[in-house]
Amino acid sequence: MTDNINPAIRRAAIVGTGGIATAHAAALTELAGRVELAAAVDIDPARAAAFAEKWSIGRTYPDIDGLLENEDLDLVHICTPPGSHVPLAIACLRAGVTPLIEKPPALSLAEMDELAAVERETGASVLTVFQHRFGSGAIQLRNLLEKGVLGRPLVASADTLWYRDAEYFSVPWRGNWEIEGGGPTMGHGIHQFDLLLSILGEWDEVTAVAGRQSRPTDTEDVSAALVRFANGAIATVVNSVVSPRETSHLRFDFERATVELDHLYGYTNSNWTVTAAGTDATITKAWAEGIGNNTSGHTSQVAAILDALDAGTTPAVPLSAARSTMEFIAAVYASSFTGRRIKRGEIGPGDPFYTSMVGSGAPWATAEKAGVPA
Ligand SMILES: NC(=O)c1ccc[n+]([C@@H]2O[C@H](COP(=O)([O-])OP(=O)(O)OC[C@H]3O[C@@H](n4cnc5c(N)ncnc54)[C@H](O)[C@@H]3O)[C@@H](O)[C@H]2O)c1
Repeated sequence: MTDNINPAIRRAAIVGTGGIATAHAAALTELAGRVELAAAVDIDPARAAAFAEKWSIGRTYPDIDGLLENEDLDLVHICTPPGSHVPLAIACLRAGVTPLIEKPPALSLAEMDELAAVERETGASVLTVFQHRFGSGAIQLRNLLEKGVLGRPLVASADTLWYRDAEYFSVPWRGNWEIEGGGPTMGHGIHQFDLLLSILGEWDEVTAVAGRQSRPTDTEDVSAALVRFANGAIATVVNSVVSPRETSHLRFDFERATVELDHLYGYTNSNWTVTAAGTDATITKAWAEGIGNNTSGHTSQVAAILDALDAGTTPAVPLSAARSTMEFIAAVYASSFTGRRIKRGEIGPGDPFYTSMVGSGAPWATAEKAGVPA
């Protein structure tokens, strides 16, 4: 942690200067005055140089060791492919710097627990990117739920119906278990069901199916899950990358209202609708009252992190919250590949789904090995 003359000005670096790094650089640039984007790292030096020029970044490094040796930082934004997240985050923790890790934070529950062990050992903290928790609609929904305005959650759904073509999967790290860690359950739907889980709280059990319908991947390209929550709510979660009319749709039916979010990659207040049960106008009035104006996205999350650092509180989203989402993903795969209903807490050391999301193996891979067309 740096000893800034003005403690409100933080210093950040970006590791991995590909696609999503642009959203991080844009967020940090928008928040200039509170945070300085001091350096960038990429194993591809030409890419790092072009990125640094575009975003007026002073220094670049070919690896994280050079960055951590030479820079005094508060935050390191890890924007590399998923298979490298944990080793890079551990290097940050050991240097006493907070890593902010892109989704998915790790490849497995074992890796999540390794990160937690290094957090305990070093006293430094991991943060994870789940930017859709930070739009004003999500914040208002949490507020109203906590105040009891909406009543109990009864039934909900999170549909991530996206379309990714063959060109998307031509990038070597996509569509495999070793580097991407999973298909749309791990990499795409994670945004939507993380938001669902952050609203509905502890999930209790999952029953799921997954399939490889049409993409040239090792991983699934579709999954569907039935979820029961500790509070009794029941939800369905569908994750797809084969759906030509794309949408990210969440729906919550509470005792006193239906709350829906319909968007694609980011939302504003206009993407939310609230329908009261019967003619109860107090619900729509309560929804509009005091709602902020944050778009969901990296700028809103990074601003919330800076607010928490300034206030001396715990920034979001901490590793413990991300673990619940990762455990949900492991349960979707475990149920899909074994045909069993999976209870929360069931997947621990010794379980094949603890060390890898593919666990005991995807049925289509087993069928291919046996010479049966998948
Ligand atoms: N939050 C979101 O909405 C969102 C959207 C897209 C992607 N992502 C996530 O962001 C991450 C990166 O995805 P992308 O599409 O930007 O990938 P990308 O392939 O476009 O970029 C990754 C970059 O990391 C560099 N890199 C790889 N290993 C490195 C290492 N060890 N050290 C330094 N640099 C390294 C590569 O050279 C490349 O420039 C993934 O985890 C992905 O799931 C998040």
